[in-house]
Amino acid sequence: ASELTARVCALAPVIPVLVIDEAGSAADLARALVAGGLPALEVTLRTPAALEAIREMARVEGGVVGAGTLLTEKDVEAAKEAGATFGVSPGFTRRLLDAAEANDLPMLPGAATPSEAMYLLQRGYSVQKFFPAEGNGGVAVLKAWGAPIPQVRFCPTGGVSLQNAATYLALPNVACVGGSWVAPAAMVRSGDWAGISRLAAEAAALPR
Ligand code: 3PG
Repeated sequence: ASELTARVCALAPVIPVLVIDEAGSAADLARALVAGGLPALEVTLRTPAALEAIREMARVEGGVVGAGTLLTEKDVEAAKEAGATFGVSPGFTRRLLDAAEANDLPMLPGAATPSEAMYLLQRGYSVQKFFPAEGNGGVAVLKAWGAPIPQVRFCPTGGVSLQNAATYLALPNVACVGGSWVAPAAMVRSGDWAGISRLAAEAAALPR
């Protein structure tokens, strides 16, 4: 179940986590991030504009647009319908995973404990989100999980920044990281696309 999400993670070291208020500028934002070297984008379904933003961004050349904050079956269906090519969730429920599988939407489901990681692995998810990364113990915890569960690779998200991303990316069980720092709300609001491209380029250059 994780081949596509593994490929999404392989595109760049960072998946921008985007909260979009204005669908009208979503394509510009996507172009700025893609131009900076971050093609995989997660649009969180937390704003009324999110689905329209996914529709706009899905047309941007070079972008690979996913929907985040998928909590329910309805979210999965709406994301798929809007053109999302992958889904992200802070956690998972059986119903959510069933819906993602029924709708053919590759998922990056969230795990916060070894039992969750084990359950997801059993269902075929060998790439998982580790959420919230910093709140759950960060690099030390992921490193510890890597000993008994080395076959799962993670996308830590939540509190990840340019400052700590490299220490996550250095772990063998980290595939990529997620973070909102590459698209600060004020820069999006003011349309500072060159500035966002610069932040993206910095993130894209992180070693792994
Ligand atoms: C989220 O789902 O909001 C992500 O965890 C983003 O977290 P961040 O703002 O700490 O990068």
